[in-house]
Amino acid sequence: MSARIESGVGAGRVAGKVALVTGAAAGIGRAVAHRLAAEGAYVVAGDIDAAGLASLAAELGPERCVTRLCDVTVEEDVARLVGAAVDEFGALDIAVANAGGGTAAELADHDYAAWRRVVDLCLNGAFLTVKHAGRVMRAQDGRAGSIVNLASLNAVQPGRGMGAYCAAKAGVVALTEVAALELGPSGIRVNAVAPGLIRTQATAGMWHVPGVVEEYVENAPLGRFAEPEEVASVVLFLASDEASFVSGSVYGVDGGARTRRYPDLIGALERLPRG
Ligand SMILES: NC(=O)c1ccc[n+]([C@@H]2O[C@H](COP(=O)([O-])OP(=O)(O)OC[C@H]3O[C@@H](n4cnc5c(N)ncnc54)[C@H](O)[C@@H]3O)[C@@H](O)[C@H]2O)c1
Repeated sequence: MSARIESGVGAGRVAGKVALVTGAAAGIGRAVAHRLAAEGAYVVAGDIDAAGLASLAAELGPERCVTRLCDVTVEEDVARLVGAAVDEFGALDIAVANAGGGTAAELADHDYAAWRRVVDLCLNGAFLTVKHAGRVMRAQDGRAGSIVNLASLNAVQPGRGMGAYCAAKAGVVALTEVAALELGPSGIRVNAVAPGLIRTQATAGMWHVPGVVEEYVENAPLGRFAEPEEVASVVLFLASDEASFVSGSVYGVDGGARTRRYPDLIGALERLPRG
């Protein structure tokens, strides 16, 4: 156990555990980092946004949080982030593969480089996180591990103009299931959360296209979109020992929207006045 942790393991649902979060500087990742820290975890936060990481570290405090610049599409960066957990806090118990993002273009018009960027960020980034976190967790005898990947409602519900994102997130679900199969015998649980429409910087544009958010709300049985904290609470559950027999599962956090249809983003964009 590292000197930092010896200085005091407090109370909470993940007290004393060491948690890594990618894409932690904003949105859902930032809410996850906050929630895990509030429940007693030590947080290793990675992102490509240095200013966002600095403000997160200031909020959580140096005893509770270390940050590293980490592009999840670069293997050395992800390996370094995992290494920071071990170097700074002596272990790795929880890894949240959160960094992700999409595009809006129909398949027949989709730029290949843009397609590859989405798959690289959402799917390959999650793979690298699972790979390096899994390696370290597997070697920690007698210490249970939990990996949580951010999938999406769009892994199972197609959206027009969202081909790259839907395909990548469906890949994240498959990755989660294979990882659960392979890492389970080492005591490592692997699950995914699949959010619907959550208000973050990634989705801010949807509020500027008339009809899109309204269509989501109309099609979600709970009749609303959600805030990042509502995803963070499900990640916390899966990360904690309360989910001790949950692995290979995908938890929807979508207000029931999976039961209906996804908004027609491209249609709404086409209806915008030109110019
Ligand atoms: N917001 C939603 O409605 C929604 C819905 C379903 C799934 N998700 C998924 O949740 C996750 C978080 O989404 P969000 O809405 O909070 O996004 P966001 O854009 O608000 O935040 C993403 C964070 O990831 C960081 N990031 C971007 N590229 C990175 C890279 N290459 N390496 C490391 N960090 C990088 C950004 O700097 C940012 O801090 C993503 O995987 C997203 O696909 C979001």
